[in-house]
Amino acid sequence: MMMWRVPELLPFLALGLFLGHVAADPDMLQDVCVADLSSAVKVNGFPCKVAFNASDFSTDVIAKPGPTNNTMGSLVTAANVLKVPGLNTLGVSLSRIDYAPGGLNPPHTHPRATEIVFILEGELEVGFISTANVLVSKTIKQGEVFVFPRGLVHFQKNNGNVPAAIIAAFNSQLPGTQSIPATLFACTPAVPDNVLTKAFQIGTKEVEKIKSRLAPKKGRELRPIEIQ
Ligand SMILES: *[C@@H]1O[C@H](CO)[C@@H](O)[C@H](O)[C@H]1NC(C)=O
Ligand SMILES: *[C@@H]1O[C@H](CO)[C@@H](O)[C@H](O)[C@H]1NC(C)=O
Repeated sequence: MMMWRVPELLPFLALGLFLGHVAADPDMLQDVCVADLSSAVKVNGFPCKVAFNASDFSTDVIAKPGPTNNTMGSLVTAANVLKVPGLNTLGVSLSRIDYAPGGLNPPHTHPRATEIVFILEGELEVGFISTANVLVSKTIKQGEVFVFPRGLVHFQKNNGNVPAAIIAAFNSQLPGTQSIPATLFACTPAVPDNVLTKAFQIGTKEVEKIKSRLAPKKGRELRPIEIQ
């Protein structure tokens, strides 16, 4: 019979610890650490406030569909630590996403979380792209679930003629979002045109056109802003 000795197990233990640390937010060191969102102190997360009650663990922000009459025809409503301070250090959060017919949640990544979605209503074409540039895509409908692995670029599109909605769960209290079009073409200060012309093999005119289309406009927000 093969006997494992501690030195032989060390690489596996180290790997386990490593995976434990990259798989989600860091582990908590106390029962709760209700976020003091008003604190000026910056830590990895938020400092804990002393007095709290059930309201800190609750929200109704994702109870109802949000307006989808924006450029992309979709709206992400987050129930993360910024809305539910009790989530601080717990490593989970939810969002609700509503889609108008034809609506798109454009290609984006969450640097800090894997996402698992549940379709509340409608039907969506969803997909993520692996680091080997393989598209993993499927049409999912009401009641079905799909997973977007952490960090990979993904999207959801409502090709139907009725609205769609999903609930998304994340293994992070604040997954963070980088929407590819806005990140590259609508950031501040702007990415230089010559970076984008070379990267996308297009001309300056086309870059300027995309930039102007994606620029946030007063009263016509491209996408809701998510505070990181
Ligand atoms: C929790 O405390 C806040 C004040 O800090 C108060 O406004 C709120 O009503 C309380 N909620 C509950 C459920 O007790
Ligand atoms: C979206 O619709 C609401 C009401 O239905 C309206 O108040 C708002 O101005 C509209 N927004 C845009 C960007 O059209």
